[in-house]
Amino acid sequence: MSQVVFITGATSGFGQATARRFAQAGWSLVLTGRRQERLAALRDELAPQVPVHIAALDVRDAKAVQAAFDALPEAFRALTTLVNNAGLALAPVPAQRAALEDWHTMIDTNVTGLVNVTHAALPWLLKTGAGASIVNIGSVAGEWPYPGSHVYGATKAFVKQFSLNLRSDLIATGVRVTDIAPGMAETEFTLVRTKGDQAASDALYAGTTPLTAQDIAEQIFYVATLPAHMAINRLEIMPTRQAWAPFAVDRDKP
Ligand SMILES: NC(=O)c1ccc[n+]([C@@H]2O[C@H](COP(=O)([O-])OP(=O)(O)OC[C@H]3O[C@@H](n4cnc5c(N)ncnc54)[C@H](OP(=O)(O)O)[C@@H]3O)[C@@H](O)[C@H]2O)c1
Repeated sequence: MSQVVFITGATSGFGQATARRFAQAGWSLVLTGRRQERLAALRDELAPQVPVHIAALDVRDAKAVQAAFDALPEAFRALTTLVNNAGLALAPVPAQRAALEDWHTMIDTNVTGLVNVTHAALPWLLKTGAGASIVNIGSVAGEWPYPGSHVYGATKAFVKQFSLNLRSDLIATGVRVTDIAPGMAETEFTLVRTKGDQAASDALYAGTTPLTAQDIAEQIFYVATLPAHMAINRLEIMPTRQAWAPFAVDRDKP
């Protein structure tokens, strides 16, 4: 029987590339995201290769998430891998200038949404047992502070710790949990973060070599297809041309 991957945020970036990567290997796909037309287009592209089920949902809506799992067609119920990828950063400004609404949106999506999906998926993953995986998409922002990261980085620190804590509870179930923490990657991420500023997005990625969505999809596929006795707890991945800055020091003005 074909293996099944459930991907959140499959309408763009890492999620879309991950759908294509698993399709290449013959996995059945459950693709979710809010934008129905993009889900339908991806289904049309990949359905000639593998079975595809799409479900338009907002991960922040626990009832909608549960309903999507309840409505999974029989052929997609033997879930092997959950990729908790849906997420976003907003408010690329200092904390003191950030809108409270943007903070709430990040917490509701990256924390509450990820928890909603994990809770609904767990019974199915437990049924699969050995070889099943939860792959959570964290970020280097969950480990390293930088200006303008405020609540975004804090949500990804939650993803990191939640992943480790899940591993502790799931030790005897065969279900693995991995936090994949990417650095700078060129997707629609910065367009979303800047609320549609294409020039700002282009400028961020200009003159350097960011990660691509395909790079991350390959790592997701790698951790999900390791032998059942191997669990990668955390994978932090940066472009070679990205590293850390010195500590900032505030000095008296001359
Ligand atoms: N790109 C980077 O540099 C980078 C680095 C580290 C970590 N990450 C993380 O990687 C993940 C994927 O981001 P990306 O770079 O691929 O960005 P992206 O191209 O903007 O994709 C984000 C995906 O998340 C989905 N999404 C957002 N809010 C949602 C909601 N409320 N309900 C359901 N789906 C939702 C979007 O789908 P809809 O809009 O259709 O709902 C979209 O498919 C995120 O968790 C992000 O924090 C990105």
